Amino acid sequence: MLHFRRFSDTSVSEKLLDSMFLITIGIGYLFALLNLYYTDQGRDGEPGLSVKDVTLAYYGSHNQTRLGAAINGPMEPNLPNAAAKTTILDWIQHGATKEEFEAKVKPIMQSNCVMCHSAASGMSIPHFDSYEHVLELTATDTGATIPALVRVSHIHLFGIAFILFLIGRIFLLCELPVLFKRVVVAAPFAFLILDISSWYITKLIPQFAYVVIAMGAFVGITFAIQIFTSLYQMWLYKSNNEQE
Ligand code: HEC
Repeated sequence: MLHFRRFSDTSVSEKLLDSMFLITIGIGYLFALLNLYYTDQGRDGEPGLSVKDVTLAYYGSHNQTRLGAAINGPMEPNLPNAAAKTTILDWIQHGATKEEFEAKVKPIMQSNCVMCHSAASGMSIPHFDSYEHVLELTATDTGATIPALVRVSHIHLFGIAFILFLIGRIFLLCELPVLFKRVVVAAPFAFLILDISSWYITKLIPQFAYVVIAMGAFVGITFAIQIFTSLYQMWLYKSNNEQE
């Protein structure tokens, strides 16, 4: 009869190596989640990570410009009154001309914004020192650019495929119903590819943010199943190989 390797066939050294790898990857995954939280959570101006944050990351806000989104959101308290906000929004609406900027918008920014939004403040935020710089913030917000997505996609696919492969090799040593094992080793690759494809689709169809989140969650779930089952079977599970 064919015999496939199981944890019962491995040495303690091999199990130690596998365990340390799985634990380190598991911690790495938690940091990846934290990183996601810090990068995306504030996009909609409300604390916590939401579907809206994910939509804004990939699709953008479309009906808003970066400047408009800022003064309707986190930068609103810096404005002296509602009239100042209307003045800026109207300026964007009217085509963001230089004349109107100099006459109406610049004075508002000089007294309410440039103390932070200038090179002198030392903050790495957009500088409002010239019409051209402010103009850049009045383009429609269409979310992450394609080159940025391509860069993150190839890093994710290479890096995560490696991790899934190594975790899968370890997980295959578990004693489990064969169908369950086949699904759990193959599925995260499919979820990963669907997750990354959905980033691009979300650029066109904002509702796809739900698919991005669902696929990301499914990768995480299969990841966790593989790590925890492997660790459990390595150290706590009594093999029934003998009866087979
Ligand atoms: C107390 C300092 C401070 C003041 C005053 C301030 N800002 Fe900001 N602003 C920031 C910081 C810090 C950020 C970056 C943090 C963030 O993105 O939430 C920021 C971000 C922005 C952005 C987002 C840029 C982007 O990346 O999309 C815009 C637009 C903006 N501010 C506009 C304004 C306007 C208009 C005013 C004046 C009414 C103003 N800010 C006043 C500190 C300030």
